[in-house]
Amino acid sequence: MRTSRTSDTRAAVVCGLGSALPGRLVTNDDLAADMDTSDEWIRTRTGIRTRHFVEPGTATSDLAVAAGAQALGSAGLSTVDTVLLATTTPDRPCPATAPLVAHRLGLTGRPAFDVSAVCTGFLYGLSVAAGLIASGSAEHVLLIGADTFSTIVDPQDRASAVVFGDGAGAVVLRAGAPEEHGALGPVELGSDGSLADLITVRAGGSEQRSAGRRPTRADAHFAMAGQDVFAHAVTRMAEATRTVMNRVGWKTGDVDRLVGHQANLRILHAVAEQLDMERERLVVHLDRVGNTAAASIPLALSHACAAEELAPGARVVLTAFGGGATWGAAALTWPSLDR
Ligand code: UT7
Repeated sequence: MRTSRTSDTRAAVVCGLGSALPGRLVTNDDLAADMDTSDEWIRTRTGIRTRHFVEPGTATSDLAVAAGAQALGSAGLSTVDTVLLATTTPDRPCPATAPLVAHRLGLTGRPAFDVSAVCTGFLYGLSVAAGLIASGSAEHVLLIGADTFSTIVDPQDRASAVVFGDGAGAVVLRAGAPEEHGALGPVELGSDGSLADLITVRAGGSEQRSAGRRPTRADAHFAMAGQDVFAHAVTRMAEATRTVMNRVGWKTGDVDRLVGHQANLRILHAVAEQLDMERERLVVHLDRVGNTAAASIPLALSHACAAEELAPGARVVLTAFGGGATWGAAALTWPSLDR
């Protein structure tokens, strides 16, 4: 597992926060109308009650621009040095979506690139942003997590169609001091490519194209080995959280809020149990939005901030597990934000 932290004198400090959800609200009963599932199964097995789907014609970049604009406004900035977009559902396989997002935000000319680590994408992006700031390459970075999984999930695949939702969340990070509220501490990241088949879209890349195979319906859609992913997610998120707490010198009781990737309420509860942490410290947002992949953590932060669950100075740990497999955790103190 690779660990990074910002330099002792120059830290990445969160100074802006934004979010965007598409307008179409989809309830469990809406899904049960078209598929062999039920509100009761979805609620008890996942904790999810509603999610938002994009309307036809809306792409990931549209949500990313909305969240990014809100984060810039919250930071009181009209420009940044770099734009990072964590996503698994780019507008097109080529080019990356971040340059288009930067252009639409009035940031043409700035470096902009996508970060691809599925549901851990936001944490990978945080690590990159922190590195850019610590090295002096950037003073301000806009990091957006945005995904529209409704565009890649097979609506008839009940194992994943009930779990995912669309959305975007964003933060602005600025150069600051490690002791400031909002300063990002250590970021812990890991991956295991031997688990690539657990979460995948098989078609559309060089593997399938070079073989000249026409993709089947199943290969063209997202597929997930739910139970295996569940087990790895609990182990890896608990482990990464523990490592980050050790590095920053926090005991479980010192953590005010654990913001875990919002995939399944039972996963969050199992992580809390492994850490011996009260469930009350978990930020829970998946009941309203489902699993929004790279948007999951910044959307949960926006929700917790709006619900006044995050006071300035609160000790926060973020953790995620996703396709790749990838995982990670990060520690920060919560800033005082204009929203
Ligand atoms: O974002 C990246 C990280 N992703 C995750 O962390 C997701 C991790 N996985 C999960 O959250 C869960 O595995 C799922 C929510 C995807 C599935 O829940 P589960 O409790 O693991 O269900 P299961 O796959 O073990 O299936 C249990 C039963 C099966 O029926 P039988 O064989 O016991 O008769 C399934 O066919 O539930 C059935 N089932 C459903 N029933 C109603 C599976 N999906 C559904 C459904 N509605 N949507």
